[in-house]
Amino acid sequence: MTFPANFLWGGATSANQIEGNYDVDGKGLSTADVVEYVKPEDRTNMEIPFPSSDEIKHALETESGRTFPKRFGIDFYHTYESDLALMKEMGFKTFRVSIAWARIFPTGVESEPNESGLKFYDRLFAEIRANGMEPLVTLSHYEMPLHLTLAYGGWLNRKLIDLFTHYAKTVFARYKDQVKYWLTFNEINSLLMAPYIGGGFTRDQVEDGKLLQAQYQAAHNQLVASAKATKACHEIVDGAKVGCMVIGMINYPQSTHPDDVFATHESMRNTFFFTDVHVRGKYPTYMKRFFRENKITIEKSPEDEEILQAGTVDFISLSYYMSGVAARQEVEGEHAAGNLLTGLKNPHLEESEWGWQIDPVGLRTLLNVFYERYEMPLFIVENGLGAVDHVTEDGRVHDSYRINYLQSHIEQMKEAIADGVDLWGYTTWGPIDLVSFSTSEMTKRYGFIYVDQDDYGRGSKKRLKKDSFYWYKQVIATNGEEL
Ligand code: BG6
Repeated sequence: MTFPANFLWGGATSANQIEGNYDVDGKGLSTADVVEYVKPEDRTNMEIPFPSSDEIKHALETESGRTFPKRFGIDFYHTYESDLALMKEMGFKTFRVSIAWARIFPTGVESEPNESGLKFYDRLFAEIRANGMEPLVTLSHYEMPLHLTLAYGGWLNRKLIDLFTHYAKTVFARYKDQVKYWLTFNEINSLLMAPYIGGGFTRDQVEDGKLLQAQYQAAHNQLVASAKATKACHEIVDGAKVGCMVIGMINYPQSTHPDDVFATHESMRNTFFFTDVHVRGKYPTYMKRFFRENKITIEKSPEDEEILQAGTVDFISLSYYMSGVAARQEVEGEHAAGNLLTGLKNPHLEESEWGWQIDPVGLRTLLNVFYERYEMPLFIVENGLGAVDHVTEDGRVHDSYRINYLQSHIEQMKEAIADGVDLWGYTTWGPIDLVSFSTSEMTKRYGFIYVDQDDYGRGSKKRLKKDSFYWYKQVIATNGEEL
């Protein structure tokens, strides 16, 4: 069994990690623009920022001399033409980008969009197409207009549903001829781990002891917004395919103790809750008990049920980097790292330099689990290895570790396809080095293309082809036959 002839090979990025130029052509400040770089020695176990509103305001008042890497990205705003030419050289069939909401609606509440922002994506999508690739576009990838956080409390506020729908309809109408593949929220289940990044709200906006309540309220509002956007996309864009996007992580029980096994089953609901709603258009029954026992009351509108039902997705997309280990609460053990998900260590797996547990077979299992549950097409829209790269004197990067990682995951994808999974495509994360989401550093690189830039944005920004560039080109040319 092999990859289908129309399999979408490619790479994935997000606006805030590549574009830079955070304040040009009328763009408003986004939640990502105020995330500061933290030196490795000051990091406490991969913390994902959950700032207070005052901390954000303070960062804005005292910004000189501080580093906010998502403001400069890798200058893709200006280099997209030559960067896309390199993707074309690798034979990409698709390229995943996101739209920065604050380029289109600088504060999120304008009724008219910012024309210069729209024009940038006109040019970008045209260029992606001109290079023979299908654009795969995320509406919201870990950022939103900062004003919506400070003035509205982000996704805690129901008003965001209509503001987001207005933004979504605007871009659907504008790009309907250029973009057919859309994703609503990147890793929508992330707000259970990263309330600010995923949910756009700050620490002080949550009542004491009510974080879980806040997270599920924000999740509800996003799920309704996602359904509204999906329905609108189907109405506006001829032939549209809309997907949800979740962190795909499979958890294994730490022991064969039945309680560990059930705890593991429950832990998977952090993902399945979101895909269940997106695919089935209604809340799964298991959430009733969870809400009751955790004293969570979701504020809903009478029409929400109908909206969820009317806005189901066409496919499920997921990121996959690692697997995890779960156990009943009282079990203790050594913890593994991850950008969002930290769990117990699995002694059978090796780790990346950032402590992420590498598990190609976990990908096969996960694809099968998703497909058996929903029988809906799947799309892997992120996978890759973050590593430190060294440039040799003759300007080469010998990244065999990256090739090994990707090769072993593609082999398992192939197995999953042979198992019967309908897999539409595979976009590796960060085909060109970009600013890390979790640590805002450049040092952790995912690319086939090296970018000469350091954590502070210094460097020539010159692009170099790594060994993996030639390898991936061959993988695509042989449709995954030669790994
Ligand atoms: C995913 C995100 O969680 O992981 C990406 O969707 C992110 O935005 C990627 O970059 C890798 O994580 P990190 O922290 O290594 O950049």
